[in-house]
Amino acid sequence: MEQRLLRSSSSLLFHPFLFFLLFLFHYFHLSEAQQAYINNKQLDCYNYENDSSTNGYLCNGLQKSCVSYLTFRSLSPYDTPISIGYLLGTKATEIAQLNNISEVDSIPTNTLIMVPVNCSCSGNFYQHNTSYTLKDSSETYFTVANNTYQSLSTCQALINQNPYDSHNLTVGLQLLVPLRCACPTRNQTAHGFKFLLTYLMTWGDDVSSVGETFGVDAQSINEANDLESGETIYALTPILVPLKSQPTIIKKSISPAPSQSLEPPPATSNDGHNSSNKKWVFIGIGIAAGLVLLAFSGFLIWFLHRRTRRTKPSPERKNLDESADYSIIPENKSGNVSSQVPRYTIDSLTLYSFEDLQRATGFFSENHKIKGSVYRGKINGDDAAIKRMKGDVSNEINILKQVKHSNIIRLSGFCEHQGSTYLVYEFAEKGSLNDWLHEEEYQSSCPLEWTQRVKIAYDVADGLNYLHNYTNPAYIHKNLKSSNILLDGNFRAKIANFGLARTMEDEEEGLPMTRHVVGTQGYMAPEYIENGVVTPKLDVFAFGVVMLELLSGREAATASDDGKKTECMLSGTILKVLEGENVREKLRGFIDPSLRNEYPLDLAFSMAQLAKNCVAYDLNSRPAIPEVFLSLSQILSSSLDWDPSDNNLQNSRSFGHGR
Ligand SMILES: *[C@@H]1O[C@H](CO)[C@@H](O)[C@H](O)[C@H]1NC(C)=O
Ligand SMILES: *[C@@H]1O[C@H](CO)[C@@H](O)[C@H](O)[C@H]1NC(C)=O
Ligand SMILES: *[C@@H]1O[C@H](CO)[C@@H](O)[C@H](O)[C@H]1NC(C)=O
Ligand SMILES: *[C@@H]1O[C@H](CO)[C@@H](O)[C@H](O)[C@H]1NC(C)=O
Ligand SMILES: *[C@@H]1O[C@H](CO)[C@@H](O)[C@H](O)[C@H]1NC(C)=O
Ligand SMILES: *[C@@H]1O[C@H](CO)[C@@H](O)[C@H](O)[C@H]1NC(C)=O
Ligand SMILES: *[C@@H]1O[C@H](CO)[C@@H](O)[C@H](O)[C@H]1NC(C)=O
Repeated sequence: MEQRLLRSSSSLLFHPFLFFLLFLFHYFHLSEAQQAYINNKQLDCYNYENDSSTNGYLCNGLQKSCVSYLTFRSLSPYDTPISIGYLLGTKATEIAQLNNISEVDSIPTNTLIMVPVNCSCSGNFYQHNTSYTLKDSSETYFTVANNTYQSLSTCQALINQNPYDSHNLTVGLQLLVPLRCACPTRNQTAHGFKFLLTYLMTWGDDVSSVGETFGVDAQSINEANDLESGETIYALTPILVPLKSQPTIIKKSISPAPSQSLEPPPATSNDGHNSSNKKWVFIGIGIAAGLVLLAFSGFLIWFLHRRTRRTKPSPERKNLDESADYSIIPENKSGNVSSQVPRYTIDSLTLYSFEDLQRATGFFSENHKIKGSVYRGKINGDDAAIKRMKGDVSNEINILKQVKHSNIIRLSGFCEHQGSTYLVYEFAEKGSLNDWLHEEEYQSSCPLEWTQRVKIAYDVADGLNYLHNYTNPAYIHKNLKSSNILLDGNFRAKIANFGLARTMEDEEEGLPMTRHVVGTQGYMAPEYIENGVVTPKLDVFAFGVVMLELLSGREAATASDDGKKTECMLSGTILKVLEGENVREKLRGFIDPSLRNEYPLDLAFSMAQLAKNCVAYDLNSRPAIPEVFLSLSQILSSSLDWDPSDNNLQNSRSFGHGR
């Protein structure tokens, strides 16, 4: 066999005679055995469909339901308590508490996380139900069980509990995923065991090392899994670990070596047979040598006695363990950034209960709906916008909990419920800038005035300047556009939607190229579209487009007049306006007609110039955001001095200076 075997402590035990004797010895206790070890049968989806070891742990416990624990090794995108909670259908808060980590911070890859679940009998088997929606056409029952759920479920159990034919799995289908868990038997309870933990064996583990990690003797683990001492245990199979108290902490030693999870699967489908064949071969030899065995029995007694003594932890050892450096912080050798970044507490964010949000939004009723999956609600007397999001939202949460600026939307907290995260934001009463500029109803009833527009530009520049230069780490928003700029009751702007934002450190760490170009047509800088280059100048470009929208009231990208598929970019039109003859006339033609000429043309010209510089093709020709901010603060202060009543005079007088 090629794969590495994991054996319990002593290689002496592999002596065939001893093995046989232990087997007999064990046999008398078989009736006490707890749950059958899966023995790699989970790899052969179509041969063990009725095998109880593959379908789950038998419902043979004292209780029909109980709290139990699973282990999961963090792996992107399941690397925060929230995302692991989604996957395993349990509460992020409980995962965070048990592992002493915050709910939203990402956990370095391959860290062992313990996950509390409610386990209950369903038919003959204990299980914890969760659901999983297929995301990719390459997914099968096997990959869901083995890869996504890290063998916490099996393909056989999935096949048995889902109505869909294996060949009929399609993206978007929701599967019931029964996770393997169990409740202690009468015998285990009598011996003080309160919980069973489903532990996923990995390379380098053996029963005694797992026992040491959780402070349990190897024999109890062997008994819990109906394992003989020394029996082959395969990597990437689950075993049960009986626990006397909740596993609040794990020692550092549990962290697997960095490369382990990358190794190929341990076995082909018939390894299970191999090992059991071997067992019978041993027994054959044993029977043939029956008489010789008798001679060994004395030795056996001596040996077992010695072994028990050896495995029983000495009192000193126990004390040592209790005072050891219990820490969940893994030995992360990959130099993952997140392990070095100081841990931000979630103190600034409130964890709402789903009931809170239901109450706040009238059970997410239609009349509380703002748009899409965004609802308006009242929480503690304050208006809030509640947005339901699917998938991994930790990026947005992680950024918004750290940034505090009046021009960046404030996240007050969040709630996790049935695989969705509800983010609770401060309420921006006036909605998005996009609506004010481009929606017919706003445009005609009360268009934004000149000073309001300059103020909005100024606010956005202020917020961007903060993101680029005053946060640590600095951020690039990457998705700035008028629909991501929200307006409060006083038309002060707030930058929202940080789903795509990235830290500048990410960029410096050798990730300057993004393979996936995501963004909105009309706002994306050419170097990003062409080469995936991400720099702060990406935001400067998008901001230039927003300024052009404010000036012209036009959309960032519009279908061109000739009805062809080509789109007309606002960023491209400004050059034509500001170059050549008749700039004044062309600029007047460019400015939003709903301003009805009530604007200072010289300031409009300055702002148009600034916007033009921001959308320069060459990123090095674009100004940095502090410079943009400074220019805008001058334009704003001049705008505040400007008196609309002497508009025409001012226009004609000062435009000459502007040129
Ligand atoms: C499993 O059980 C079902 C019915 O209980 C039976 O139809 C099927 O043939 C069995 N499969 C195997 C491989 O024994
Ligand atoms: C939890 O972690 C914090 C630091 O992150 C540490 O100060 C505290 O002692 C830990 N608590 C336990 C019970 O390990
Ligand atoms: C288990 O169920 C109880 C009661 O239904 C609940 O309070 C607890 O939060 C649940 N635990 C988990 C891990 O879901
Ligand atoms: C889990 O799902 C099974 C269906 O396969 C169902 O019979 C059982 O009641 C569910 N258990 C819980 C606790 O919801
Ligand atoms: C099972 O999952 C592990 C990771 O959990 C992976 O390394 C292994 O290749 C998978 N096995 C198969 C046969 O795909
Ligand atoms: C596959 O799915 C289609 C549509 O959902 C269904 O009509 C068909 O019976 C399924 N086939 C099998 C073998 O389950
Ligand atoms: C179960 O009980 C038997 C005797 O009653 C005992 O020898 C054995 O160790 C027990 N098993 C466990 C796991 O405690």
